[in-house]
Amino acid sequence: MSDRASQLISDILRRIHEVIVEHDVTYEEYQTAKQWFVDVGEAGEWPLFGDVYIEHAVEEQAFGDRVGSQGTILGPFHVPDAPLLEASLELPHRPGEPGERTCVSGRVTDDEGKPLANANLDIWQADAEGRYSGFMPGPPEGNLRGQVRTDAEGRYEFITVTPGPYTIPLDGPTGQMTAAAGWSPWRPAHIHLIVSANGYEPLVTQLFIDSSDHLDNDVASAVKPELIVHPEPTDDGFAFTYDFALAPARAPAIA
Ligand code: BEZ
Ligand code: FE
Repeated sequence: MSDRASQLISDILRRIHEVIVEHDVTYEEYQTAKQWFVDVGEAGEWPLFGDVYIEHAVEEQAFGDRVGSQGTILGPFHVPDAPLLEASLELPHRPGEPGERTCVSGRVTDDEGKPLANANLDIWQADAEGRYSGFMPGPPEGNLRGQVRTDAEGRYEFITVTPGPYTIPLDGPTGQMTAAAGWSPWRPAHIHLIVSANGYEPLVTQLFIDSSDHLDNDVASAVKPELIVHPEPTDDGFAFTYDFALAPARAPAIA
């Protein structure tokens, strides 16, 4: 085993042992916790649990000092290879997709404001009822998932609907643990993006809708003030702009 693995594992175990002593944890509580670990595995919820309760700390540690735009957690609902959007630039959706039509636009630049042409924005979001396609009943596969590229001036645009807030699944062990602790299971309404360009650090982020409930008690602790957007009414819905500034790649880009 590497020194690093040995250090991390012994520190994690030592802190668990400290909690047991500090809170005088009983055998009954230990057996309940053990069964809960089994239940999380059987329900396939380890990715969900990690992304709800742990990922934000890793993201802050990894990228707290990044230059340019803020990122936040990836979460468990990204699906790679969403279609590149054609001329209408509308995220794929059902006829009569519920929710306010919303136009999102802005620029992608480097951290000194130089426009980045042909940068890629990979976008995914819940529908107006807070459901992700491919993971929850309701929206068809691929709904509200797509990619757009910037033009020569680094500009991008896409059309979507305003997403709704949602709860993590309430009936599984992660939701049950959240309820047992008396915590809110809600995530505020947000649009996920991965913004990438050759030679730059990919930016995994989320834009949070300012009118959403739960902005100040996100179960996944992923809201940052810089990521809250303010859609304004237009003739046919809402619109907001958001500019992304990418940091240089940390490691040399692979050619
Ligand atoms: C999400 O943003 O989609 C998400 C993040 C963490 C846990 C569950 C969902
Ligand atoms: Fe999400």
